[in-house]
Amino acid sequence: LLVAIDGPAGAGKSSVARALARELGFTYLDSGAMYRCVALLWLDSPEQQPAALAREARIEMREDSSRPGSTPRTILNGHDVTEQIRTPEVSEAASEAAADAGVREALVAKQRALIAAGDWVAEGRDIGTVVAPDAALKIFLTASPQERARRRAAELGADAATVLAEQMMRDERDTSREHSPLLKASGAVTLDTTGMTLADVVQRIAALARAARARY
Ligand code: DC
Repeated sequence: LLVAIDGPAGAGKSSVARALARELGFTYLDSGAMYRCVALLWLDSPEQQPAALAREARIEMREDSSRPGSTPRTILNGHDVTEQIRTPEVSEAASEAAADAGVREALVAKQRALIAAGDWVAEGRDIGTVVAPDAALKIFLTASPQERARRRAAELGADAATVLAEQMMRDERDTSREHSPLLKASGAVTLDTTGMTLADVVQRIAALARAARARY
């Protein structure tokens, strides 16, 4: 069974997806981390085509068994890049790389191969629309732009106004790009998390997932 969670940056997708996966005993897939890996390779080799880098990249997500529920480690071509892929420079390059049709094609194929077997909570921008339109449960997670910027700023230890300005540019690019723009999938349940606690959001989605499981 697959729970697909899509939505804009800062809506709480990562925290929600990770906690939900733990609650349900499913595996967590952070598709954004894969776009970030391609961005990191691209920043290192700007002369290369990002789509070629995406096709060749070996990306693994490894749970840290000593810290259950923590962020899985992202391993790129054998190197742990978990922290490196979270810089503002990589965020910017990831948004650009994600607009490339060849990059998307390569990463969607890798994501489909991963989720083909087992129970997953997969999170991103196009999981319910492109990667897995037949997911048992699709959630469109959102929150007000100010709330999203506040959360990101707290996470990064950055200034909220700066984060809000950069977020607006990335939102604009992610929603207006030609290939797989951020859209609510048909049949998706919208959840606005402004003012909701993480625990509330997780319980709401877990209840929907259990109902979906009963139907399948
Ligand atoms: O969720 P995130 O901030 O880690 O995502 C990084 C970038 O990748 C962001 O610009 C949106 C893009 N992305 C995408 O286009 N499709 C996905 N499934 C996941 C992320």
